[in-house]
Order: sequence, then structure tokens, then C-alpha cells
Amino acid sequence: MSKLDEIQKICLNRGIVFPTAEIYPTISGFWDYGPIGTLLKRKFIEYWRKTFIKSLDNVFEIDGSTILSEKVLKASGHVDSFVDPITQCDKCKSLFRADHIIEEKTGNFVEGKSNEELTKIIRDAKLVCPNCKGKLSDVRVFHLMLKTEISSVGGQVGYLRPESAQNVFTSFQRVFRSTRAKLPMGVAQVGHAYRNEISPRNFLIRVREFNQMEVEMFFDPNNDKCPLFDQVKDKEIMLFTREDQQKKGKSIKIKVGDALKKKILPNEWIGFFLAKEFEFYKSLGIPESHLRFRHMLPEETPHYSGGNFDLEIDFEDIGWKETVGNAYRTDYDLIKHSKHANTDLSVALDNGTKVIPHVVEPSFGVERTITGVLLHCFVEDKERGWNWFKFPANISPYIASVFPLVNKDEIPEKSREIFEILKKDFDVLYDESGSIGKRYARADEIGIVVNITCDYDTLKDDTVTIRDRNTTKQIRVKIKDLKNILSELLEGKKLGTF
Ligand code: ATP
Ligand code: GLY
Repeated sequence: MSKLDEIQKICLNRGIVFPTAEIYPTISGFWDYGPIGTLLKRKFIEYWRKTFIKSLDNVFEIDGSTILSEKVLKASGHVDSFVDPITQCDKCKSLFRADHIIEEKTGNFVEGKSNEELTKIIRDAKLVCPNCKGKLSDVRVFHLMLKTEISSVGGQVGYLRPESAQNVFTSFQRVFRSTRAKLPMGVAQVGHAYRNEISPRNFLIRVREFNQMEVEMFFDPNNDKCPLFDQVKDKEIMLFTREDQQKKGKSIKIKVGDALKKKILPNEWIGFFLAKEFEFYKSLGIPESHLRFRHMLPEETPHYSGGNFDLEIDFEDIGWKETVGNAYRTDYDLIKHSKHANTDLSVALDNGTKVIPHVVEPSFGVERTITGVLLHCFVEDKERGWNWFKFPANISPYIASVFPLVNKDEIPEKSREIFEILKKDFDVLYDESGSIGKRYARADEIGIVVNITCDYDTLKDDTVTIRDRNTTKQIRVKIKDLKNILSELLEGKKLGTF
């Protein structure tokens, strides 16, 4: 079983994530978060907000509708060109992504090739249906957006949004004016996006409904300086350059400042986000060796883009997969919407000049990130006898669990008292069933950071033991210090070192 399959199984068993409406024959590509997964996702999104919105000046969050009218998506280009190349088996009628089948079977990267070119590769390499070995059809396009009809009278076509970004472009001017912001200014959004993927697979990596966290950073096209670039210019990132991809080489470690000087990066804003993302992903527990930014090749880069850099995570058995798309979208979207809506979307600079801002966009996938975190924080532990998750404290579903050592002599009552106090400020879990060893195992298995145990001494001197998930070491502390200890853990400090 691959590690990803194992993680999927654990997620089902521990109530982290499971298929939507699984008691019915399930349509693939839809997943529900269970109690543990919901906490993990909520905390991870909050950590993202803290890093990419709250810590920056002039970034504002909106929360837009997930259904957009056809007009919006016609203007953005999605109605005409948000398609994937597909091929169908003549015999069993299964549909496949033509580029994926070719990449898997030949190892050659074919993004950006035309349908005719893909068909020729399928024929030349004699590729057949992976399910029944039937003949594969010529490659054709498949629309990825999920369509819906708006209004009872009919006639109004809408789509579930394929990316959260379009709400930002269409409401940009209102946000700019209502916040009285100045450029550079960011508009961020966290929310659902939908794509009718042909073959959803690899657990949460390719699904039909997912969450994106995006920032559209708008700046004056004549001034692409990022005021915060100095803070990050010496930060190192792993970069998979176009040259190294063509040579089938490896990614290099480079300072973002140097990548900008070498003109690999188109501007400081892209450099700023790449540096921040690299730190952010490492802090989620994903090792540096499993992270890289891939500079998209010219043939895969949209014509309007000033450069795209995908943050990829190495998902081990299934290889490297894009998890954050970083794009220099220039003024493409605002110009398109200005024309289609016949509305001037320019904004005034301090000196009165009107400009259509340029945009740099980091687009994070929540589900791909969570899969990366689950995979890389998973610890197979023969010594302990159970496997556990080493989630960083700030995204762990629960920071602590509270146990009575035994279920008698007023120890449960005292434990409950502590639990009720902590519950007001923290996500904590109370567990009194089974042996203490079993309770440690259950807590580790869902990544709880520390375990607080009340025993006979607690009744005498108001102290408890606190056990560290990562080391299994225990220290004795005063009940009155618990809130401070949990707060310090959430700030990233290690138990016993503060
Ligand atoms: P891929 O080539 O893997 O389909 P993409 O290039 O279509 O990805 P983008 O359009 O750049 O992806 O979307 C931005 C981010 O949204 C991705 O980096 C990813 O994290 C997330 N995302 C996109 N499609 C899916 C999907 N079907 N399931 C889960 N996450 C997705
Ligand atoms: N907003 C980037 C994308 O979803 O493609």
C-alpha cells in the first residue's frame, strides 16, 4: 500500500476526512471533513490568514459568492478555454486526461501541446486504455466548469466558480474605494472552487470541490517595487529553473534576491511571496527537501502571464504536485472585465494619474496542502507501537487532552474542573476511557500536542503531569500555569524550554 493510501485509510478511521455521502453509491471527487479534519483545516486556514493577510499592511479579505454568471466567466476566458484534453476508451468508455496518461506512460511532460500533437503521441507510443487495453480515441477538449441554471424562468446560465480570483477582480474597484487604500494593495479570499475533473484521484489532491486561499496583490504597473522585499531578499528557496527542467536536472538553492538579479523572477512581489511561502510550508512540517518552486515552461505559461512559479510538494509515491500557483497575471483580468462590462476599472494614484494595476497572485490549494501536511507529519513509530501525527502545535486539532489517571477518588471531578477551565480558551479533549497507555495512543494518533494527567498528587498540591507528544517526556506543573504553557506551545515554543 502506498503511503498516501495509508494516510487515506487513517483519515477514514480517525474521522479526519471521508467521501461525501458515502452510504450512497459515491460520485468521486467530493470529500467531507470530519471532526478532526474540520479543526485541522480551520486552524491551518487561520494560520494562513495570519501569515498572508494579518501580518501585511494593506491586504483586505473578502468572501464572495461561489456562483458566477456566464458573463463574468466569458470575460475571464474560462467559458471558452477552461478545458482539459481528454481521450476515451472505445471499448469500456472510460475517460482519461490525455496529458496525464501520456506523462505517466512515457515520462514526458506534454502540457501546452495541441490535441493533434497529443493524439499523435498516443498513436506513436501505442498507448491503450489502462483499464481494459481498448483503443483510445483522438484527443478532444472537455469543459471543466460545473454549469447551473439561475432563476426559475430559466435562461440565465451560471457556473460554480472554477477559481476564487474572479470575485476579486470584479469587486476590486469597490474594495479599493471603500477601504480608501493605496497601491500596492492586496485583496484576499478563502473559499470553495469547483472543477469537473475527469478523473479525480490521489485522495484530496485532485477533487471536484476544493478550497483556495488567494491573494491578488495589485500594484502600479510603473512601480513594481515591494516595500517588504528587503526583509526577504536573503531568504533561500529551492528553485527548479526552466534550464534545469529541460536538462532533466534538479532544483537549486538560491536567495530570492539573486533569483531576481538573474531575471528569473519577473518582479519583487513574486520574490516576496515565494520567500514567504517557502518558510510557511516548512513551518507546517514539510521538509525543505520535499519543496520546490517550478518555473513553468514557456509552452505552459498563459500568454498574458509575466511568469508562473508553482510551489510543488513531493508527495513521495505519486511524485511532485503543484500546491500553490504563483502567477504574474499583469493587467489581463482587469482589462478583460473593463471591456466586457464596459466599465472603467482604473484607479487613481496619489498624483491623480489613472492606472490599471498589475497583479501578482499566489493561489494556495487547501486540500493539497492538508494532504502534504498529513503525509509529511505522519510518524511510523515501531517503538511506541502506534503511528502518530507530528502536527505543528498551531494547526493541531487539539492542543491538549485531559485525563484522570484513575476513575475514582475524586480524580475525574478534578480533571473535569481543569478541562472546563481550559476549554474556554483552547481546543482540548477530555478522555477517561481505557488504560492511560491507550489514551496516550489515541491522543497521539490524532496529533494532540500534550496530555495533561491528574493523579493523587493533584488533589494534594494542585499540580498535574504534562506529557509531550513528540518526546513522550513528562514534567510536573502547577494547574495555574497551564493556560500560559498552552499559549506558549501555540506560539511554537517547546515544552520544558520556557
Ligand atoms: P493541476 O495542473 O494540478 O490541475 P492547476 O494548474 O489547474 O493544477 P491552478 O489552476 O493553478 O491549478 O489552481 C491553483 C491551486 O488550486 C492549485 O495549486 C491547487 O492547490 C488547487 N487546485 C486546483 N485544482 C484542484 C483540484 N482539482 N483539486 C484540489 N486542488 C486543486
Ligand atoms: N486563481 C488561480 C487558479 O485557480 O488558476
